Amino acid sequence: MKRIVLIVNGAACASVIMLLCTACVCTHGPEKPGALALTPQMGWNSWNKFQGSVSEQLIRETADAMATNGMKEAGYQYVNIDDLWQAQQRDARGNILADPTRFPSGIKALADYVHSKGLKLGIYSDAGAHTCGGRPGSRDHETQDAQAYASWGVDYLKYDWCDVGDLKAPAAYKKMSDALRATGRPILFSLCEWGTSKPWTWAKDVGQSWRTTGDIFAKFDGIIDHGGKWKDYGVLQILDMQAGLRKYAGPGHWNDPDMLEVGNGMSENEDRAHFTLWCFLDAPLISGNDLRHMNPETLKILTDKDIIALNQDPLGIEALKYSAQDGVEVWFKPLAHGAWAMCVLNRNKEPRQITFDWRNEKVTDDISKRKTKFDTTTYRVRDLWKKQDLGTTETPLSAEVPGHDVLAIRLDK
Ligand code: GLA
Repeated sequence: MKRIVLIVNGAACASVIMLLCTACVCTHGPEKPGALALTPQMGWNSWNKFQGSVSEQLIRETADAMATNGMKEAGYQYVNIDDLWQAQQRDARGNILADPTRFPSGIKALADYVHSKGLKLGIYSDAGAHTCGGRPGSRDHETQDAQAYASWGVDYLKYDWCDVGDLKAPAAYKKMSDALRATGRPILFSLCEWGTSKPWTWAKDVGQSWRTTGDIFAKFDGIIDHGGKWKDYGVLQILDMQAGLRKYAGPGHWNDPDMLEVGNGMSENEDRAHFTLWCFLDAPLISGNDLRHMNPETLKILTDKDIIALNQDPLGIEALKYSAQDGVEVWFKPLAHGAWAMCVLNRNKEPRQITFDWRNEKVTDDISKRKTKFDTTTYRVRDLWKKQDLGTTETPLSAEVPGHDVLAIRLDK
């Protein structure tokens, strides 16, 4: 950091320098992980669509797409390579290497390219000896790997939890967190240990987000059981596993219900519901489809500014489930400036007619310590997906919610 030299007496000069240093540590210093992801991070990750089929060409083309298709303007920033970017073996000095066939130009050149598009590059490793895909993990190489990532210009690390033997998650994740901070480069740290050791109770100062569940798959309602403890979960199953976790999230430390499956085969209604719910949950918005070839409906969902604004609201308070009856759930999310958002989720396959008489309802949020006062305060009601004003809270809301879909409402005073 450049300092301004002031010609004043010694003591005054020392205190000015101290002030400058303090300001630097508070706002930009890698010592403070909270300075990253003050709203949930937004980006893309290769895993959900491509699994092990990653290459520098895919990453470059994805960055090109994100920079030009409206996603960058909508707030997406990180282009993240998941597992299997690494060579089979470290070099003789233990340095981690990129797979020479898939990433012949190396990660530094790729980071430079992604940065030239005004975007950031993310990478993946694992706390154990091997990643889930069997490539070298970072166990006993934490400092060396963190330094390699920083020297390449990496901006984000997703850190998985395979082949961990006797490791304990809090210590293993802290070790990599410390190694990343010691590099001096702000690298967003995304913990991926699937909620096994309740990271929401210990990871607030370790990283910026933590997975809360096992892996998602592109189904709205269902589970794939791979045997043992290994299962993949649909959108509704993951949603239900967020119960009780909202109090742990906030600016700089988010619950992560896994990456998006929008555009990966669910119906348009399901994709819309999935995206809306993830926004209400303050989830990291990491798209997981092929950004180079997507239909206009998928892009429309991923870039809806009104829905994204709920996720990126500066208060950073997750939605609460207000009611649930006959497969219809009503969620409320407190927003900055006294506003609220409401999501009506229809978990059924068939449409449901709903009526909501505001003046008979009272929402109390024990986290933001806010209450709706529909009896004394009138809010304007807007349907965020249909872009329609629906009057005010003085009149009951009536609507049909299609099967596996949502109604997303914003209430402003
Ligand atoms: C785990 C993670 C996934 C993905 C794979 C890669 O299953 O939860 O998100 O990173 O590993 O092997």
